[in-house]
Amino acid sequence: MNNNIAAPLKEIPDGLVCIADYAHFAKQHISHDIYEYIAGGGADELTLQRNRRALDEIQLLPQMLKDCTQGSTATTFMGESLRHPILLAPVAFHKLVHPLGEIATAQAASALETTMVVSTLASQKMEDIAAQLDSAKWFQLYFQQSRAFTLTLLKRAEAAGYTKLMVTVDASLHGIRNRAQRAGFKLPPDVKAVNLEDRPELPRKVLSAEQSIVFQGMMTEAPTWEDIAWLLQNSTLPIILKGLLHPQDVVKAQRMGIAGVVVSNHGGRTLDSIPSAIELLPRIRKAVGAEYPLILDGAIERGTDIYKAIALGANTVMVGRPQLYALAVAGALGVAHMLRILREELEVTMAMMGTPEIKDINTQSLYSDE
Ligand code: FNR
Repeated sequence: MNNNIAAPLKEIPDGLVCIADYAHFAKQHISHDIYEYIAGGGADELTLQRNRRALDEIQLLPQMLKDCTQGSTATTFMGESLRHPILLAPVAFHKLVHPLGEIATAQAASALETTMVVSTLASQKMEDIAAQLDSAKWFQLYFQQSRAFTLTLLKRAEAAGYTKLMVTVDASLHGIRNRAQRAGFKLPPDVKAVNLEDRPELPRKVLSAEQSIVFQGMMTEAPTWEDIAWLLQNSTLPIILKGLLHPQDVVKAQRMGIAGVVVSNHGGRTLDSIPSAIELLPRIRKAVGAEYPLILDGAIERGTDIYKAIALGANTVMVGRPQLYALAVAGALGVAHMLRILREELEVTMAMMGTPEIKDINTQSLYSDE
């Protein structure tokens, strides 16, 4: 880590009271280029901004005088009991912000009984992270250049005790990350995708002058529906697709036997000028029916955000960037504190809304002037 920045704290600083505060405090603990890489989005960041704005524009309509004394944030999802409908999204390279990286995050997830989705691009071995996790563990898979190595990752995840496979399909290209480029972000030499170290070196494609580095280059390695069908045949773990937005894609996934979908625009980091997941969620819920497992992410920072997502059809949400900010500020303690804030804010919201259980939350709880 860069020596000019403050080390992670051993206690939560005074005045750090909500998730957005973590982004602010984190600036003292992360170098500028790394901060920009984490905080930034694609191109002009229209989608990044929209993610926040779309949630802000939804309003709640509380009902009074309900008995909430038996309330709980507990729920079941895809056969697993959740203490709360809040998951840690797959986020690459936690060692960018803390020397223990994903190990510290896993300790916090265990303490707060939170499902952690471990990224293919984790900076600690997936087996070592799994060993720290008492709570549920899922593995996020990026398709690899060779199917054989993709299968190796899948088998390792199965052997390490991961119970679901979340396959990310919206990031075959990095997107146009101008903010990270302007800040000169480069992965430091001591932070690596250690789970890909055994990846076989395939011969580099030589492109002719007429060929495109995008289409004939990078897109030749991007998965297609055919690869998803192949993965379904080869995985003993239920498969969740992450990064679908078009209702037709979600219906297609459902029909193929995909166990659940993450409605997501990758935190506004890939294609710019696309809607936020929360805007598409009601249409997607309608298309797949009441029972199909849906997860939502993007700009979840408040208990009220989680509540809005559930009201509009999500079963659970995931948080991305706040994990890294909290890890930078105070390591495992910070991540645990961040998760506790979210859970407590959700409890406050549910109690004040008069909906003591997750199953009570629906569109009736939202204000609409129609
Ligand atoms: C991500 N995300 C991501 N997704 C994924 O499937 N695999 C990955 O390795 C990563 N890596 C990653 C790194 C960083 C720095 C960020 C900020 C995000 C996307 C992530 O899972 C999630 O979709 C978004 O972060 C959700 O938006 P918020 O909560 O960050 O607004």
